[in-house]
Amino acid sequence: MGTALKLVHDAFRRELALVRQEVAGAGTALGAQLRMNCLTVCRGLAVHHTGEDTGVFPALVERHPALAPTVARLRREHETIAALVEDLRAVVVADRAEPVSVLAEVDRLVAELERHLTYEEERLIPVLDAPPVDRG
Ligand SMILES: [Fe+2]
Ligand SMILES: [Fe+2]
Repeated sequence: MGTALKLVHDAFRRELALVRQEVAGAGTALGAQLRMNCLTVCRGLAVHHTGEDTGVFPALVERHPALAPTVARLRREHETIAALVEDLRAVVVADRAEPVSVLAEVDRLVAELERHLTYEEERLIPVLDAPPVDRG
């Protein structure tokens, strides 16, 4: 489970780095394919965080009540990131999407997301990878 989390997070890191690189090299206009790629990553992130909020987190807190404050913080970070994703979407779908504005939003999102992913991995991977407690 911990390995799976890291794999998914690393995929987001790679996809966002790629989008960032493409936006940085986009010149004066954002191509249709790049818009699509950007919106696809945004959607993927939203799906991942919803899955954690509704599935992974409740199950974790049930098994490890001491994790409640950590999970509360992770949920708040999901809200912050959702707002940044909305800001990014807004500049990407704008009529004349400016690569400079899109790049600024991608950088804001990447910075916040990286902090979140790192914290989530530090706190959750050891728990997810621990052998199940025998409640015999
Ligand atoms: Fe998360
Ligand atoms: Fe996550």
